[in-house]
Amino acid sequence: MTGFRLEDITRRFAANGAQKTVLQDISLTVESGAFVTVVGPSGVGKTTLLRMIAGLDRGFEGRVTWPEGRRPKIGMVFQEPRLVPWLSILDNLLLIAEPGARSEALALLDLVELQGCADALPRQLSGGMQRRAALARALLAKPDLLLLDEPLISLDSTRAERLRARLLAFWQAGKPTIVMVTHDFAEAIELSSRVIALAPETGRIALDRAIPLPYPRQMTDPAEASLLGELRDLAKDWPAPPPSPESEGEERAGNTGLRLLTI
Ligand SMILES: Nc1ncnc2c1ncn2[C@@H]1O[C@H](COP(=O)(O)OP(=O)(O)OP(=O)(O)O)[C@@H](O)[C@H]1O
Ligand SMILES: [Mg+2]
Repeated sequence: MTGFRLEDITRRFAANGAQKTVLQDISLTVESGAFVTVVGPSGVGKTTLLRMIAGLDRGFEGRVTWPEGRRPKIGMVFQEPRLVPWLSILDNLLLIAEPGARSEALALLDLVELQGCADALPRQLSGGMQRRAALARALLAKPDLLLLDEPLISLDSTRAERLRARLLAFWQAGKPTIVMVTHDFAEAIELSSRVIALAPETGRIALDRAIPLPYPRQMTDPAEASLLGELRDLAKDWPAPPPSPESEGEERAGNTGLRLLTI
């Protein structure tokens, strides 16, 4: 069992001598094997929520509980890639993998379209490529619970489409529980079995919706299109999202000091 329960979670941070509440009264049960997406405006507390589930943030009110009383094996892809700078991409993957995982690591580098980058150092890759390496590293560790913080942001649209399909296949094959933060509502609907939207200002749950639709999903289908409309309607008063990290191509073009690998 790799599901979990959040009970009456509230998170306050000290800000300019006052207290700022970013998440409020969050209670929900995530079933084992679910693929949950979390959407919400910037600063609402999505990353904070993942950090709480991972056990990296403990300064909150309320409880995170696990059916068997202990955390399962958790894999996390942070918003920033967090690769070890002096290790090659392959060694970054192998760092937290079981022994003998080399060929699987190379296969996962293929899966995230980083074939040929195994021996590169992180700084030789664009930010987007580093994010894909971090995703491969998390998948290689075979977590029971995978926490993904905007893993596919700023990919070009065709690559993002391929990686979404592969992430979906990974989930369907092993049924890890996945909680993924995204700003992309269509991505949330295409992939997840449940979408949770957090409300601006209050940090409360504004929408919690199961998506019991068959895969593959097309945004042209009426049920998908209707949910997309509902999310867009909910978000019409949200502050504009921050500029996403530059796309991989722009990043490469803009970075003049390093030889960057391109594929
Ligand atoms: N350790 C901390 N100390 C003080 N404030 C913090 C801390 N961590 C997060 N915050 C604040 O909590 C709020 C929520 O942050 P969080 O990173 O969870 O938002 P988010 O929803 O992930 O935003 P984004 O979509 O931009 O990634 C922000 O205002 C942030 O500044
Ligand atoms: Mg965040």
